[in-house]
Amino acid sequence: MCGIMGYVGPQEAGPILVDGLRRLEYRGYDSAGIAVTNGAISVRKAQGKIANLEALIASDPPSGSIGIGHTRWATHGAPTDANAHPHTDPSGEFVVVHNGIIENFQSLKAELTSGGSEFVSETDSEILAHLIAREYDGDLVEAVRRTVALSEGAYAMVVMSRREPRKIVAVRKISPLVVGLGDGETFLASDIPAVLHHTRDFLIIEDDELVVVTEEGAVIESISGEAVEREVVHIDWDAEQAEKGGFDTFMLKEIHEQPAVITETLASRLDQNGKVWLEDVGFDDAYAAAIDRVWITACGTAFHAGLIGQEIFRRVLRLPANVEYAHELRYADPIIGANDLTIAISQSGETADTLAAARLAVDSGSRMLSITNVVGSTLSRYADDILYTRAGPEISVASTKAYMAMLIAQYLLALRLGAARGTVDAELAGRVAHGLHLLPAAIEEVLEREAPVIAAAESIVDASDVYFIGRGLDYAIAMEGSLKLKELSYLHSEAMPAGELKHGTLALITDGVPVVVLLTQRAVYDKVISAVQEVKARGGRIIAVAYDSDTEIADHADMVLRIPDMEDLLAPVAAVVPLQLLAYHVARLRGHDIDQPRNLAKSVTVE
Ligand code: M6R
Repeated sequence: MCGIMGYVGPQEAGPILVDGLRRLEYRGYDSAGIAVTNGAISVRKAQGKIANLEALIASDPPSGSIGIGHTRWATHGAPTDANAHPHTDPSGEFVVVHNGIIENFQSLKAELTSGGSEFVSETDSEILAHLIAREYDGDLVEAVRRTVALSEGAYAMVVMSRREPRKIVAVRKISPLVVGLGDGETFLASDIPAVLHHTRDFLIIEDDELVVVTEEGAVIESISGEAVEREVVHIDWDAEQAEKGGFDTFMLKEIHEQPAVITETLASRLDQNGKVWLEDVGFDDAYAAAIDRVWITACGTAFHAGLIGQEIFRRVLRLPANVEYAHELRYADPIIGANDLTIAISQSGETADTLAAARLAVDSGSRMLSITNVVGSTLSRYADDILYTRAGPEISVASTKAYMAMLIAQYLLALRLGAARGTVDAELAGRVAHGLHLLPAAIEEVLEREAPVIAAAESIVDASDVYFIGRGLDYAIAMEGSLKLKELSYLHSEAMPAGELKHGTLALITDGVPVVVLLTQRAVYDKVISAVQEVKARGGRIIAVAYDSDTEIADHADMVLRIPDMEDLLAPVAAVVPLQLLAYHVARLRGHDIDQPRNLAKSVTVE
């Protein structure tokens, strides 16, 4: 998704903007640009990686201490220099960067064209610069306001003009925007990590708000002009946390952060007996006891985390639960009742489909609990209850530590609901709590067992298809392992319940085809072994994920990736780690860009 940067202060804006854009690279982009003003506005922009923009700037450096910048992920028009942001009006006096979509841009463009406007790009964003110039009558804020009134859609827009040269005006309509408050300088960004090394004090701009940024700070108003008081949020993230540390990729660093993430997510929320305190979850026991059904909605990896939640709520709490893809749920006309609890899961808290599904649930009268990693994200603001995952900033497009934190959050929620509903007794609660507290050490152990994973990666690096199977909770992990492999390695992969294999996919199992099998659910172990035998009989190659104590699997599998013994209920947390590492190493062996896989974006803020 597009990234936004802005700077007003005493320093040269160009290097600060480019540095911020680099820190937003994880959002995914295909062109980048900046505009700096020093009386006149200078624009530099280039398709491709930020290095192209840097080369342009090096050959012709723009000067000025106020500026805006952008990384674009194409929606309207190809990723070209002309379509890259910023965009100016024909006079070059007004300049705009924009994140999101102007839904009525065709009619606005037609209207502007009939008035004589000519456009140099194919983007919907360029019309904003034209509209602001047309609407300007001596007050930039009012011109922006009138432009917003004309433009339908979900977006964030940032505007600068040589007519009012010491300010930036920005608007948020759904797409995220934060202001970083420095000492005599102010920053604007679509995401906190972009400027965290400059300041820890932030104003989170909310939907339908306009902010005027100067070196003295920022003034927030509603789009309609009412003054807004906003508390400064102090962000505790360690600046180091947003860097790669000693690892060669953010993904590997984030995989290795998982034990700490579990500890953080559990901290002050769970005692040894399984009693749970969730600080931003406001419902009482009477509410929890009266829930008829749980809806879990999410996309991608967050959906796979929801599969685990669904299984736990059903199996352990005996509570009807459905996990639904958010993009399906929003158009499915679901029967969501007033006594249903909806859980929307999203690392970013900005995924457009998940936000829409969450809104649908709220509009249906359901209570809505969001599980998200981003404080102040849109999803957190829609929610009645929030369970923050405390994974810290996740930079790699492929989600790992945020996924793990989502699992932990759901175990906590299950303990909380189970206690209120009387479906989790003291013995089970104590056992699960004990197991949860042991997980960080168990994951450390799994992380140390990298050699067999590398061997497994080497064995599948040239495969054309890889299958993942498991049952129950293991099926949910198979889904996530398969997604990780395909998004990073670009190998074709599919996951399915082990029992489903013989209903069709077995036709594809021939000599040497790799099948990754998860075997952590003791109750269905023999059933999964039957599927393993079906694969072996067709010449397929088995890579198993199994407990240390499982001696039988060595007789069936070609390779075994071991995890320490634990409660089956908690095994997904450990079993996913070798699969994350497997995907990582296959992608590494294939020479791919691991942190930014092709065609993918970190935060999918369009439908
Ligand atoms: O920010 P979210 O958790 O809502 O993102 C949802 C998916 O786009 C995300 O999990 C995606 O599937 C990841 N790239 C997978 O690694």
